[in-house]
Amino acid sequence: MGHRLGRVLITQEEIRERVRELGKAVARDYAGQDLLLVGVLKGATVFLADLTRAIDIPVSLDFIGVSSYGARTRSSGVVKITSDLSVSIEDRHVLIVEDIIDSGRTVNYLRRNLQTRRPRSLRLCALLDKAEAREEAVEIDYPGFRIPNQFVVGYGLDFGGLYRNLPYIAVLEEEPSG
Ligand code: PRP
Repeated sequence: MGHRLGRVLITQEEIRERVRELGKAVARDYAGQDLLLVGVLKGATVFLADLTRAIDIPVSLDFIGVSSYGARTRSSGVVKITSDLSVSIEDRHVLIVEDIIDSGRTVNYLRRNLQTRRPRSLRLCALLDKAEAREEAVEIDYPGFRIPNQFVVGYGLDFGGLYRNLPYIAVLEEEPSG
């Protein structure tokens, strides 16, 4: 089965506007506080780069790598940390930045893991919320867009490592080969 880019689900302009709103909300809520944005590799890097520039208060950045190998098969859902934070989060306000919440397994694992390091607060900002695919309940403090249960690429999201550099979010369609 081959694949091709399908319709654009969220345009560059729509993303820009929503990111601006999210950045404002974060800046308002954390004004005067020590905030660390934690980007989840690799998908969240594009979103994080734009979000951080939409937040007009001082913030720090760090990254964590999480492999969600098997997360899309109902039976497994194995999640593990492949690259850890470079700083301590103890007593700091931490905002996890994700590109998409799908089953919810990755971010719930991450939340449990980071919580053991005793941050002052721990919240979640996610650009895309594929709510219909949820297998575990997730509370998204700063949600971007709710999207249908379709495979999407672009703006950080990949298929086989490709498409992350698209400036918009598009549906990836299967096309019969041969
Ligand atoms: C994606 C996304 C989330 C996770 C969401 O990462 O960035 O971390 O899957 O899925 P879940 O809610 O079902 O757990 P992916 O494993 O594709 O890695 P990548 O960010 O490096 O592309």
